[in-house]
Order: sequence, then structure tokens, then C-alpha cells
Amino acid sequence: MSDSWILEFDDVVYGYVCSRRPATQNLSLKIPAGKRCGLIGQNGCGKTTFFLLANGLYQPSHGTIRFKGSPIRYDRNSLTALRQQIGLVFQNPEHQLVASTVEEDISYGLCNLGVPESEIAQRVQAISSEFNLVELAHQPIHNLSLGQKKRVSIADVMVLKPSLLLLDEPTAYLDPRHARQLVHQLEQIHQGGTTIVLASHDLDFVYQWADWIFVMDQGRLVLEGKPQDIFEHRELLEQLQLGVPLAIELMEQIKTKMRENYGEMIPDFEQLQNEVLNDRRSSFL
Ligand SMILES: Nc1ncnc2c1ncn2[C@@H]1O[C@H](COP(=O)(O)OP(=O)(O)OP(=O)(O)O)[C@@H](O)[C@H]1O
Ligand SMILES: [Mg+2]
Repeated sequence: MSDSWILEFDDVVYGYVCSRRPATQNLSLKIPAGKRCGLIGQNGCGKTTFFLLANGLYQPSHGTIRFKGSPIRYDRNSLTALRQQIGLVFQNPEHQLVASTVEEDISYGLCNLGVPESEIAQRVQAISSEFNLVELAHQPIHNLSLGQKKRVSIADVMVLKPSLLLLDEPTAYLDPRHARQLVHQLEQIHQGGTTIVLASHDLDFVYQWADWIFVMDQGRLVLEGKPQDIFEHRELLEQLQLGVPLAIELMEQIKTKMRENYGEMIPDFEQLQNEVLNDRRSSFL
């Protein structure tokens, strides 16, 4: 086993009943431990299926999934232990929240694990203040806004202290202010030592947030690398109809205009461009 990879998919095939082709087709992918990983790809390329396989909700028909070096086992006890370690936040919080109030919802996973009541109270209190949910503790879940529900669903998962956090489209439903808050929360989670994998269609978000990006297409991994390198593959990204982040697009347009108007590039333009892009990334986190 290598300590470098927290989760490894090796040649994994999974197909839904009645679908013509598998949702993951011999998918091989390794999640580096300790990184902020972004997962991008067209609708239907298999991102959500990847997450559901990763935390053992689905079982592959072929291939192996390893967590911290050991193949996932599908008996009940092993899956309970796995889901403490790998937290999955669903795209739609309505699919995740089960109890009637915020406090009960956050306690739910700990109760299922048989954690003593005094410890539950203390952990729920701690996570509620970390996620700014203290004032909502006794609110009925159905009264919350979607953004608030999203915060609760992340707290539900983080109260179990997973070492790997999977987030499916976490910025969906969030206004810019709450998206900023999410970045702040994710940063705290990451600094606490949790590896994060985040699937999103928001390329600007992923470009600024991630330090490693995976690109999927038709159930396979087609590209991975640092954000700065990934978006150099313009042709491939356009073939996949993904495009590039706005900041990169603007830089390209400025370069083209400069060439058209002045016939040449100013010296050091590439370096200045990289500085601007790197500054944007650092100020985002
Ligand atoms: N419950 C299901 N039954 C049958 N087919 C499914 C089911 N869920 C997903 N699929 C199919 O599996 C493939 C992968 O879907 P998946 O939801 O994993 O993609 P995705 O990358 O998460 O897409 P999106 O960006 O739209 O969320 C798609 O072809 C989809 O139609
Ligand atoms: Mg999805």
C-alpha cells in the first residue's frame, strides 16, 4: 500500500439495470491523500456513480476499490465502518436529511453508531458552532432554506470525523455569499486533515479551489493534473464541451487583442498572467 492514495479505483465497472452501457467503464482513478480534488465532466459522465461506489452504496461488477490500501468489503459491519471514514454529501440535501430538527439530524449518525449520549451532545454542540448552526438547532428541517439545508447536510457528515469527504455539486443552490462560506468551511475541514473530493460543473470554482483535478467522460478518467496544467488541454476540454474557466478565457482574449492591435506580446506577459491567476487562487481560499 502507498500512503499517498486514500482511495483507489482499479478497473471498476458498474452498470445500472436497464442501461445500455455501464456508468463507469473500467474506471481507474487514485485519490491523493490530503489534497483538495475537483471532479469535472459532462452531465451523465459518472461523477455521482463514482461517489456512490466510493462509499459502498453500489458494488462494482468488475474491478477493485481500495480505501487506505484495503479492498472495500460489503458486509454490514464493514460498510458501517467505511461510511464513518468516507462521508458523502449528496447534491440534493433533501435526499440526505432524515430527522425533524437540525440538532436531531446531526445526532442521527452518532446515535446509529451507539455513541454515548454525553459524547453525542458534546460533538453536536461543537460541530454546530463550527458550521454556524447553533441558532438553527431546534428549527424544523422543513423550514430551512436550501443553503441552510446544505450546511446541515455537511455538518451531518463531518460530525462523524471522516478522513475522506465527497461532495456532489456542493455549490448548487448557494448564492455567492454562501458559496464563499462554503469555501471557508471546506478550508477548515481540509486543514483538519480531511481529504476532499468535490464534483462540480462550476469550472471557476474548481479552478480556484482544487489542487488536483480529475476529468471524467463516459464513465472513464480522461485527464488528471494540477489546475494550471488541466486547462492547457483546451482542445480536449472543448471536445468534451466543458470549456475553460472564465479567468483563463479572458486572459486568452487579452492576448489575442494585444497581438491584433500591437502585433506582438509585451515582454513577460505570460509571467504576469500566471501571477494574476495564482493570486486569484490564493485569495480564494
Ligand atoms: N438510477 C439510475 N438508473 C439508470 N441509469 C442511471 C441511474 N443513475 C444514473 N444513471 C446513468 O448513469 C450514467 C452516469 O450518471 P451519473 O449520475 O453518475 O452522472 P453525473 O456525472 O453525476 O451527471 P450529472 O453531472 O448530471 O450529475 C448516466 O448515463 C445516467 O443516465
Ligand atoms: Mg451527478
